[in-house]
Amino acid sequence: MTKIFAHRGSAGTYPENTMISFKEATHVGADGIELDVQLTKDGTVVVIHDETVDRTTDGKGWVKDFTYRQLRRLNANYKFKQYGSCPIPTLEEVLEWGKETSLLFNIELKNSLIFYEGLEEKTIELVRFFGMEDRVIFSSFNHESMATCHQLAPAIETALLYMEKLHKPWQYAKTLHASALHPYHPTVDRYFVEMAHRHQLSVRPFTINKEEQMKKMFADGVDGIFTDFPEKAIRLRDQ
Ligand code: G3P
Ligand code: CA
Repeated sequence: MTKIFAHRGSAGTYPENTMISFKEATHVGADGIELDVQLTKDGTVVVIHDETVDRTTDGKGWVKDFTYRQLRRLNANYKFKQYGSCPIPTLEEVLEWGKETSLLFNIELKNSLIFYEGLEEKTIELVRFFGMEDRVIFSSFNHESMATCHQLAPAIETALLYMEKLHKPWQYAKTLHASALHPYHPTVDRYFVEMAHRHQLSVRPFTINKEEQMKKMFADGVDGIFTDFPEKAIRLRDQ
């Protein structure tokens, strides 16, 4: 059965990448959550999508230029003001809460635009600290970073994120020891899924918010989807 991952938590109805958004994913029965990680100036792994805080918080500037103390003062409730104070969480905070749930965790390393020295090591250290290696999937648009993660922590699954239609991505993925493809959904069809599965690769397309897209992905036999509306996806999948 296709697993439903709540994208940035339940970003369609709650402030993305915040604790309230992740908790909502458990309430609606999602199989997993997806979250984005970056490093602060003082080396804390924080959960935020953009490289700047401008879009999602009441602050301005690059994530890399804030200490965690400074970042923590910002409110990430930008789109859903009714939820009051929603600080940017640390990865540690999310995993500490998450280890008591049955969720899977797709941790996307946001290191395509900015090179964060030590992001892979620090992220792996936290996953190991909480003993969650078998419930975590690392992903990134930076495929070199995924190769590094595999080398440092072969027990943790790695997945390649990409937008464009690649030539035989199942062969490419094997060269990087990735265990899954996370493609932009229009590049996926039934043949694609069959070929990936033949190469022992999981397929989890992003980001699928419309009902017709969800139905197509379920019919194509994908292993997981990322959606801002997990409740809707679960209803459609289970009906
Ligand atoms: O992991 C799927 C998806 O999150 C990738 O795109 O930009 O939403 O992080 P983005
Ligand atoms: Ca993401």
